[in-house]
Amino acid sequence: MTDTARKATPAIEHREPVWGYAPAPESTGIVRLEDRYGLFVNGGFVEPKSGKWFTTINPATEEPLAEVAEAGPEDVGLAVDAARDAYERRWRSLPGSERAKYLYRIARQLQERAREFAVLESMNGGKPIKESRDIDLPLAAAHFFYYAGWADKLEYAFPGRTPSPIGVAGQIIPWNFPMLMAAWKLAPALATGNTAVLKPAETTPLTALLLAQVIQEAEVPPGVVNIVTGAGETGAALVKSSVDKVAFTGSTEVGKIIRRTIAGSGKRLTLELGGKAANIVFEDAPLDQAIEGVVNGIFFNQGHVCCAGSRLLVQEPVFDVLIDKLKERLQTLRVGDPLDKNTDVGAINSRVQLQKIEELVASGIQEGAQMYQPECVLPERGFWFRPTLFTGVSQSHRIAREEIFGPVLSILTFRTPEEAVEKANNSPYGLSAGVWTEKGSRILWMAERLRAGVVWANTFNRFDPASPFGGYKESGFGREGGLQGLEPYLRLDGGAA
Ligand code: NAI
Ligand code: MG
Repeated sequence: MTDTARKATPAIEHREPVWGYAPAPESTGIVRLEDRYGLFVNGGFVEPKSGKWFTTINPATEEPLAEVAEAGPEDVGLAVDAARDAYERRWRSLPGSERAKYLYRIARQLQERAREFAVLESMNGGKPIKESRDIDLPLAAAHFFYYAGWADKLEYAFPGRTPSPIGVAGQIIPWNFPMLMAAWKLAPALATGNTAVLKPAETTPLTALLLAQVIQEAEVPPGVVNIVTGAGETGAALVKSSVDKVAFTGSTEVGKIIRRTIAGSGKRLTLELGGKAANIVFEDAPLDQAIEGVVNGIFFNQGHVCCAGSRLLVQEPVFDVLIDKLKERLQTLRVGDPLDKNTDVGAINSRVQLQKIEELVASGIQEGAQMYQPECVLPERGFWFRPTLFTGVSQSHRIAREEIFGPVLSILTFRTPEEAVEKANNSPYGLSAGVWTEKGSRILWMAERLRAGVVWANTFNRFDPASPFGGYKESGFGREGGLQGLEPYLRLDGGAA
């Protein structure tokens, strides 16, 4: 860092904004909500045998949006039966090129109705509309397109092997990317000839239920996709049901329970769990670019991201200048109405998650780290948390070890590349990592040594359906996306096992 560049870094002080943003709310008129949503079983919406319903809300306002069915074990059983029947009678023997047609239809429908889906995603989950519009929905459609393309080419994906489907997949997804996770789960399962029972998270069921309507309109044969709403107990019932495979994305805690439950049952399993990714900035990194990557790494989707860059490791010589720049950048983040097109940081997904963030932040202060938050006015109702930085973090602090899953960045320093690797890998997790440096050779050196499923270089939080994603250690096992994402849904006979 040259002296001129150092001087050019303005001091941190509270400054009045030179000009503000006028509100630019996206209209909710495009979304038509039902009062009540039943379970999607065998191609239609049905009342739950459990007789139970729950209310789903908008986390930015705490206003109720709709009533949603809570599937009990009997309901889950009926959904699995429908999936089994559809698998045996039609789907498994349908030529891949025919299965692909349905997936292409779903993909095109998602593109056509993208705005409706994006608005609903932001209403039910609290994420900024610019993210649901520009990231979640385009990527969800891209996953269906991508896997539609594989459906009739499976023998080329695995030369010399005979790929065949597994059967019925039970798929349990979280609330941070509801539509995207539904696409990640359903697209490869259907492309490979399996049928599915999907359980969305209890706080964000609505886009999955809208997807059910798209699946109906695409005339996907009844029972190929079933959607059962409910909370952990519904998920547990699905794990215990007669499904042939379980695919789970969520907390490491629940991942461990699921693994114990199905051990010895012969069911196949993939787990995509938590993370505590290191985002590593070397002294030769392009700092302004790195700042954007750091901000994107932890404040994207309020930090509710399993691969969030929640541990920033900064090489000592650039620590002061980087922190100054980062604090200044934080002051420009707009926190508030998720439906406003200018919003950068939306609502925390639920009260429970907000309490978890607050508890971990309190532990950071109590353990002696220094907290920084920009000034910003938070809405009165709903669940909100300011973008937060912690400096003076040591590796033993809870905020350096535990997944906060919120807009909270823990900052540590390092001197040598070896120390950066050591610290980055000093975590029970291993989902992702980021490296910021001008040197290509250093990127490769680091990528070889980082125990993480994805290593981003001079970027962060980039996704593509053709690229496999998944973890090491307590971040889970199995890959989603890419050719690798087909494997968990296939039996591969012949060739080496
Ligand atoms: P969770 O793991 O409890 O929920 C994820 C999904 O699993 C939901 O659909 C839920 O209904 C279901 N589920 C819950 N208990 C289950 C059980 N016993 N059997 C089967 N399914 C079950 O996550 P939660 O409680 O919403 O969040 C807690 C923490 O987990 C977060 O603070 C965050 O740190 C982490 N998390 C990580 C995610 C990731 O993508 N890696 C996603 C969601 C949460
Ligand atoms: Mg839980």
